[in-house]
Amino acid sequence: MARVQLEKVKKIYQGNVVAVHEFNLDIKDKEFVVFVGPSGCGKSTTLRMIAGLEDISEGTIKIDGEVVNDLPPKDRGIAMVFQNYALYPHLTVFENMAFSLRLKKNPKMSQDEIYKRVTDAAKILGITEYLTRKPKALSGGQRQRVAIGRAMVRESKIFLMDEPLSNLDAKLRNQMRAEIILLRKKINSTFVYVTHDQTEAMTLGDRIVIMKDGYIQQVGTPIEVFDMPDNMFVAGFIGAPMMNFIECDLIKDKTKYYVNPFDSKILVDSSKGTELKSKNIKTQKIILGVRPEHIELASKSSSSAFACKVKVCEMMGSELHVHGEVKGNDIIVRIPTISITPDQKEKLLTAGSTIYLTFTGKVMHFFDKETKINILTKHKNVPVNK
Ligand SMILES: Nc1ncnc2c1ncn2[C@@H]1O[C@H](COP(=O)(O)OP(=O)(O)O)[C@@H](O)[C@H]1O
Ligand SMILES: [Mg+2]
Repeated sequence: MARVQLEKVKKIYQGNVVAVHEFNLDIKDKEFVVFVGPSGCGKSTTLRMIAGLEDISEGTIKIDGEVVNDLPPKDRGIAMVFQNYALYPHLTVFENMAFSLRLKKNPKMSQDEIYKRVTDAAKILGITEYLTRKPKALSGGQRQRVAIGRAMVRESKIFLMDEPLSNLDAKLRNQMRAEIILLRKKINSTFVYVTHDQTEAMTLGDRIVIMKDGYIQQVGTPIEVFDMPDNMFVAGFIGAPMMNFIECDLIKDKTKYYVNPFDSKILVDSSKGTELKSKNIKTQKIILGVRPEHIELASKSSSSAFACKVKVCEMMGSELHVHGEVKGNDIIVRIPTISITPDQKEKLLTAGSTIYLTFTGKVMHFFDKETKINILTKHKNVPVNK
């Protein structure tokens, strides 16, 4: 069992730097929670407070219902993997992994038990054949596995990882990401994982906590935060390339709603319309959010189409990323190459050409122009502009 509860947790560093404001989160036993957000938003600080490496200025942290505010790190049942995992260069992989088990605080652990734990962890991580090597004879990815193995042998109920993959190159990072998913299935622990990378957050987390400037912006499953971002920050942070934001009007016309980006007229899908109506949303200026993959090519004559001038087009293989300009606004569009004709492709790849775009009313997000909060989600208390 390892449930972790953070209640009104706050961290003020010396010099009155508030790194974390009122952090509330209930992490379930065996859940994989990811803290994600830009550098400096308070991810590491929060993780270190859970580990006990950093004092809490206000609030309470509980592990399995017990307040641990004053409990030293070693008594919290936690293993932590850091970004800068320094391995001992003069020790073999085996000894690096066994190191913490040989410390005085584990006086009862037998040689057999140490051997079993290290070799079991090595097996799961696929590093058995390297156990007798020194770290300098390993690749970056192998070293990373040793660092994880070193935490695994302690058989902790809570695994904390602070950007464990950020030192690896892109290919290795993808591979290790998949391995962490497998690892998580094999060891029955609660995971709290910190990253600034939204792809890592989306692929690893049961739930994602999106942070900015020490505030939680939204907590949800990957699909929830992608489909229903509570505010423009979350909408822009999750998903790549970033969501397009367009100032326009949301128009209520009898029982229907329309939006008018760039003088076009696009009907809001009936289910979203019903939602808007039930919340009694009136005609107003909004910021409309549309993801690049939800914009498509349209014919010039359609009333829902708008003209876009191609600035740059990136050929990604399976899709084109078109960076265009519409009435002075930058727009990014993802077009799957399989869905277009050679003529269309030629045009998209030619800077300066004019294309016509549209999107359907199903995939829109509506943000309040002032507060930047999603007018359809219920969480209205997030200080977005702080
Ligand atoms: N030891 C410290 N003393 C003072 N300020 C700190 C200290 N550690 C971190 N901070 C500040 O707290 C904020 C959050 O930092 P951190 O938790 O490391 O962010 P993240 O891990 O999200 O990049 C930052 O503004 C950072 O400068
Ligand atoms: Mg950090």
